[in-house]
Amino acid sequence: MKTSVILNRNFTIGEIDERIYGGFIEHLGRAVYGGIYQPDHPSADADGFRTDVLGLIRELGMPVTRYPGGNFVSGYNWEDGTGPRDRRPVRLDLAWKALEPNTFGTDEFIKWCRRAGTAPMMAVNLGTRGPAEAQQLVEYCNFPGGTELSERRRANGGREPYRVKLWCLGNEMDGPWQTGHRTADEYGRTALEAAKMMKWTDPSIEVIVCGSSNDAMPTFGYWEETVLEHTYDLADYLSIHRYFGNRCGQTPGYLAQPEEMAGFIRRAVACCDAAGAKKKSSKKIMLSFDEWNVWFHSNGREKESPEWTVGRPLLEDVYTMEDALLVGMLLSTLQNHADRVKIACLAQSVNVIAPIMTEKDGGAWRQTIFHPFALASKYGRGIALQSVVEGPCYDAEFRTDADAPPVLHRGIPYLHASFVHNTERSEVVIFAANRNLAEPMELEVRLGDFDAVSVIEQQTLHHSDLKAVNSAEREEVAPVAQQGAALENGTLKAVLLPASWNMLRISLRQPARADGSRQKQP
Ligand code: AHR
Repeated sequence: MKTSVILNRNFTIGEIDERIYGGFIEHLGRAVYGGIYQPDHPSADADGFRTDVLGLIRELGMPVTRYPGGNFVSGYNWEDGTGPRDRRPVRLDLAWKALEPNTFGTDEFIKWCRRAGTAPMMAVNLGTRGPAEAQQLVEYCNFPGGTELSERRRANGGREPYRVKLWCLGNEMDGPWQTGHRTADEYGRTALEAAKMMKWTDPSIEVIVCGSSNDAMPTFGYWEETVLEHTYDLADYLSIHRYFGNRCGQTPGYLAQPEEMAGFIRRAVACCDAAGAKKKSSKKIMLSFDEWNVWFHSNGREKESPEWTVGRPLLEDVYTMEDALLVGMLLSTLQNHADRVKIACLAQSVNVIAPIMTEKDGGAWRQTIFHPFALASKYGRGIALQSVVEGPCYDAEFRTDADAPPVLHRGIPYLHASFVHNTERSEVVIFAANRNLAEPMELEVRLGDFDAVSVIEQQTLHHSDLKAVNSAEREEVAPVAQQGAALENGTLKAVLLPASWNMLRISLRQPARADGSRQKQP
């Protein structure tokens, strides 16, 4: 089975915004309590942050982290998580039927972000609260000093403003499951007033308005049109969310889900541009795909942990090789929409549908999905390239769950890939999945005008058992260096194992300096 690709350095999609490799920490399950924050753990630092988790977060490379929710934020009083710990209230978290002790809050999160090498992306509560409290949180975080709120931050240890740039105006406000769910008109008006007051407080911030929780929502399209009608002039990004799962064990159809993600992105972009066209605006609203991942393994297991307890284990999906293959392709899908997707957050980062898991009394470990994420974030920087692909395709049926009607996916190329010109490193980096479960793929990539020098490496994620998982004891699924990829007259030739995800790095001749010398490879 052979697939051929043609690349041209001038045919580009756009510059990849590093923030597409974002993460997400919600007050949910063991993400905060027992995840990033566990003062009684042997690896905890003076602030109670688990340093083993910090190490793995840095290894993943997440330039931004969304916080504190998620559904949680729609019932959250941010003030509860500030000031002396012994005076912080314990509250009911209605979203996840848990107890919230508030021993970790905004100031701790900012500190944690600095240690983790990530920038905070804060969400405000537009469910049970409104624009005034959202404005007050911006003032608390970003105003230099001299007001009651900014001085409160300084008294709480934040001498300098936190300079939080990205603000989510609520979370999934179109969903009936949301605390304080609103109609599109109600939300649009509220979001506009919140954005106005927040930007008056700090004009340097960017705001993200809620789009649809997923494209199967009955209000999809109408919701975007209405919300953007209200907020177009002040909104910077529209948020979209989507989770995937293989509930009916249909692997070929499951592996065709990146095409579903791409379709959702195209439809959301169309909504943004239609709203802009109606307003005759030259401004473009970009997308923040701020929740995406595989989520299904833990469905129905909520009852296993007692309600109204702190850090009750929830959404602890253990990911398979097959899930890692999908996550790798979803990352390529985000790269392939670099012109419009400027932010994306893997939901989530620790213990809750996460690449990193922790043991209460043991260490932290990498799930299968950790690996494609870490490699894409490290090497998938630069310019996303267009490609012309010729190769075999397949058809597959897929049901999202047992009650859903089957959908036939036709003409799915076995190759799913993205191609990045990493200008900093002087490399072409290829992220490529072979969706054929039985046969290897001979991949040929004509690099044309790229002046390719050599193949640096091929890293392959593959396992004979698609249901193989990692655990605290054993990293069963991890990338392995593959030999054999080579350049022949400017064409890359490589073999992709059946059901594998791969990263191939090709070094390019360095552009000559004015004095004729060439820069050294890092
Ligand atoms: O990430 C888990 C949950 O999924 C989030 O709290 C919510 O926004 C979404 O429905």
